[in-house]
Amino acid sequence: MKYNILHRLKEASPGCVSGGELGKLFGVSRTAVWKYIEELRQEGYLIEASSRKGYRLLPSFEKLNSYEIADGLGTVIVGRAVEYYDTVDSTNNLAKKLAAEGCVAGTAVVAGRQTAGRGRLGRNWESPAGKGIYVSVVLRPDMAPAETQILTLAAAVAAADALKEATGVGTGIKWPNDLVIEGKKVCGILLEMSSEADKVNYIVLGIGINFSQDREDFPDELKNRAVSLRMSAQAKDPAEIKQFSKLSVIRAVLFKLDEVIRQISDGRREDILERWRKYSVTLGRTVSFKLQGIEYSGTAVDITPDGKLSVDCLDGVRRDLYSGEVSVSGIYY
Ligand code: BTN
Repeated sequence: MKYNILHRLKEASPGCVSGGELGKLFGVSRTAVWKYIEELRQEGYLIEASSRKGYRLLPSFEKLNSYEIADGLGTVIVGRAVEYYDTVDSTNNLAKKLAAEGCVAGTAVVAGRQTAGRGRLGRNWESPAGKGIYVSVVLRPDMAPAETQILTLAAAVAAADALKEATGVGTGIKWPNDLVIEGKKVCGILLEMSSEADKVNYIVLGIGINFSQDREDFPDELKNRAVSLRMSAQAKDPAEIKQFSKLSVIRAVLFKLDEVIRQISDGRREDILERWRKYSVTLGRTVSFKLQGIEYSGTAVDITPDGKLSVDCLDGVRRDLYSGEVSVSGIYY
């Protein structure tokens, strides 16, 4: 309700809306309107009140909440519902719970901080308050579990597009879906799935972006392997960089995710793969990886139509990798 009131105040801004009109519009008393206005003020909105004219929204600093994330986003699926929390254990955990309870496809969970952020391969994901972006989106694609690798790659393409458009900072993709800047990781993606043998029930796509950390903010073991958008923007020619905020980056990520998801359901998978190849900082490089305890290395030559990484190994055999970890020359982790 408070965001309905906010929406009406935004529409009317710089004009006023009376308490009576707001009450009538939303079927609540003037006292209830006043309580919602107080809640909005507590979130940091500047709202002027005059007994003659009513309430007026004044310009203030950007806020991060479910209303600001979703308002006018222009997506079809992603962001149909948005939930924002200051602190959660993991946005993926919460999104999985909502998905199991039947939430609408496209529901996005965003948090300011995670106390138990999770990464790929059972690792943890550093999720300090205010410094990172933590977003998870529930998807219900009409596909078999074996086909879902394309979503993993598509999410990376969407995130790379979003970061470029929202900030001007260019990234590369390390297979399958890490975004890197000059060899250091800026964004990681964790896809989790609930499925039956031949049908996906739901997928939770979790995206973590290092937003405003300085080098000292990262734990020692990450200092040479991780980078934030802010660090990269500061190192670039100011002419290339746009004014960006957490809100603008989150909205861009949701918008681009929506685009790639619709491309996949329209059968345009090859377009996604082609864009993945363009962003790749893996193809053409020397890579090494472990398969059943044996260490291999070779040259990454392509991505297969179903999203596997083809590697021409030094023993003369081409191997297609579906998941796991690869080390890539020139990338510091
Ligand atoms: C990786 O290891 O590269 C994947 C990191 C994914 C982190 C994000 S942050 C939002 C979502 N919630 C989590 O607990 N993990 C993902």
